[in-house]
Amino acid sequence: MSVLLKTLGFSLGLTLLFTLVTYILPQVEGEAPVEKAVDLSALTMDDFIALGEDLFNNKGTCTLCHKPAPLGRAPDIQGADMVSLINERLADANYQGEAKDAAGYILESMIEPGRYVVPTWGKKGTNDTESPMPAVDKAPIELSSIEMDAIIAYLQAKDGNEVTVSLPSPEEAESVAGAEAIASGSAALPTPAATAEEALGKFACSSCHALDSADTLVGPGLVDIGARLSKEEIRQSIIDPNAVIAEGFPAAMPADLAEKMTVKELELLVTYLAEKK
Ligand code: HEC
Ligand code: HEC
Repeated sequence: MSVLLKTLGFSLGLTLLFTLVTYILPQVEGEAPVEKAVDLSALTMDDFIALGEDLFNNKGTCTLCHKPAPLGRAPDIQGADMVSLINERLADANYQGEAKDAAGYILESMIEPGRYVVPTWGKKGTNDTESPMPAVDKAPIELSSIEMDAIIAYLQAKDGNEVTVSLPSPEEAESVAGAEAIASGSAALPTPAATAEEALGKFACSSCHALDSADTLVGPGLVDIGARLSKEEIRQSIIDPNAVIAEGFPAAMPADLAEKMTVKELELLVTYLAEKK
């Protein structure tokens, strides 16, 4: 075969491959909505704890940051005994919050993360005065107070500690926006981000990547990513981050981000990043 033919064959192969990849991509959906029949009037504490675990892993996006070292971007609260951990926090002379017990501390951490910043875990460059954790009762995560109670119940129960939050009464549950959706299980899915900026916050991209500079946080700054990588390469670095590791960086980007996104969120991110030149 002539060199020309080989080259042609090769680029044809590549084109086919890309076509195939883009064809397969729309199948990479976020977690399919699973029907979880939680009837609020018959809700048991075990259901409530299970709901909390689901919220922690999915809608709450907690595990994007809270997971075991070395991948974790936050204290490994799933691996720690919450009650002894929290007793330590409350006894810290620097603790300035208002919580008196474990449930209060977990709630405060979720709605006012900056109230107490766990030493060494503050936002880079703020000397532990600012928390990188988003307030999870605000958009885009927007957990309701019942959903936050469910997470507290889960975090207490996972170590065999006493659960001190009470089950919502059916009336209470109904008065909370979204409770019906919780009951049907669909609310346990994260609300899809509507803009690229929202998606960057929701998937914690911005806690590892500077977006408006070339500064290194955990990963490379993305200010000129569109000039460095093609759209396909950007897409691949999100879907399969370990396929190509940026030189000089650890393979620290979570490999399951795309599984947690809708196709639309992925495309919002890819388009936005490709335009950063
Ligand atoms: C973008 C990353 C991120 C996300 C998402 C996130 N957290 Fe955090 N969280 C942190 C960081 C970093 C800290 C430590 C700094 C601080 O104290 O605020 C923290 C601290 C905490 C603490 C205090 C831990 C301790 O050791 O005292 C709790 C409790 C907590 N988060 C719960 C949650 C829950 C529940 C969710 C999900 C609903 C969540 N976080 C989502 C980053 C995150
Ligand atoms: C826990 C930290 C972390 C999170 C969260 C994270 N990344 Fe990364 N990312 C990295 C690291 C580290 C690298 C470099 C190593 C590699 O190439 O995998 C990287 C590489 C990249 C690259 C390739 C950069 C280059 O110069 O080649 C892109 C693009 C990217 N990330 C986009 C994203 C987007 C979009 C999100 C959110 C959906 C995200 N990242 C979330 C840590 C993270």
